[in-house]
Amino acid sequence: MARTTTAPGGRAARFPFPFTSDGYRYAVNVEPARAPVRTAAGGWGETVVDVDDDYRAELAERARILAADPTRCTVLPHMRAASWDALLYLLRELAAGHAGVMALTDLGGGRMSWRNDLLGVDLAFTVGDDTGVPGGPLAFAGSQVQEDIVLLDQREDALWADAGLVTFAADWSLNFDVGMSFLEVHGPVPRVHATGVVPRAQAFLMRLAPGREYRRTNWTVTAGHRLDTSTEAYPEWGRERALAAASPETLGDTLHLRVEVQHLLRLAPSGAVLFLIRTHLLGLREVARVPEWRHRFAAVLTELPDDLVDYKGLSRYRDGIVAWLAAAGGSHRVDDEA
Ligand code: HEM
Repeated sequence: MARTTTAPGGRAARFPFPFTSDGYRYAVNVEPARAPVRTAAGGWGETVVDVDDDYRAELAERARILAADPTRCTVLPHMRAASWDALLYLLRELAAGHAGVMALTDLGGGRMSWRNDLLGVDLAFTVGDDTGVPGGPLAFAGSQVQEDIVLLDQREDALWADAGLVTFAADWSLNFDVGMSFLEVHGPVPRVHATGVVPRAQAFLMRLAPGREYRRTNWTVTAGHRLDTSTEAYPEWGRERALAAASPETLGDTLHLRVEVQHLLRLAPSGAVLFLIRTHLLGLREVARVPEWRHRFAAVLTELPDDLVDYKGLSRYRDGIVAWLAAAGGSHRVDDEA
């Protein structure tokens, strides 16, 4: 595989640790995409689409989820053109980053061919013909990239989440949100309306010029190495969360710091906004192996206001994590028990 997560330094080496200070508040934390970021354990950020060692496993997981619940890919009829823009953008990105194993070739007359040796895909299709790509353009895009995908239409002076392929949502539901405005989608998030974060983010996105690419991170904590923490899957992960909270001494092995690297750009020619969400999970024990991360994560959690703690679903184990991190640092348990 062209890029690796596992060596040297393990999964942590490419983990996008999200905290740049000992406190955390919501902000319009966007920055230009593709700028490399150095972390205490390695680095990340040079690409928009990120293929790693979990590529096949995560795509198989996505296929399983989609087969069980087709609503995870929903495209309102007016977003067909944008779905094709998204597919072509993503295939071009993949091909550019993995030239030895992936290729997108223009065959002329609207025909294209796509080869992906990592998945054994070799396919010719006509741009705009939904029947030529398995599942249609958005579903096919989601079968080639690990990112979740949302497409926003811009009209009536607002953005609308009118299409998406989302199998790894962090406590929300594409099926519930599809067709909502940007402001409505963010309705449940505390503080961001009163502080103007969400209106400012929408204004920023509505001014996005084609060709400009931005990114931001978001984070939470997940019990188990589980990507699908959607509203639909709550019966499963809610139970795991309760079990994890009931055993504070084993939090290091059950909990994961969950970081989303989100990319934002405007597609051409449709003019839709493409929102990509790539989810990374790093076990608490692995976080704690990096002293700077152990201290910083504990400091952020200690200081995090209760409404943010509640919204992120951390109420049951915030104190437990802080205690576990402190003990891990004090006794070198992190390495001893690995
Ligand atoms: C959640 C900000 C772009 C969809 C959030 C949260 C913040 C935020 C602060 C709370 C996250 C947490 O604590 O876990 C922003 C900013 C953006 C942006 C600053 C752009 C600059 C988008 C876009 C979409 C989106 C383009 C696509 C529709 C969501 C959803 C949630 C969320 C679905 C979860 C809401 C829920 O609890 O149901 N966003 N966001 N965001 N955001 Fe955004």
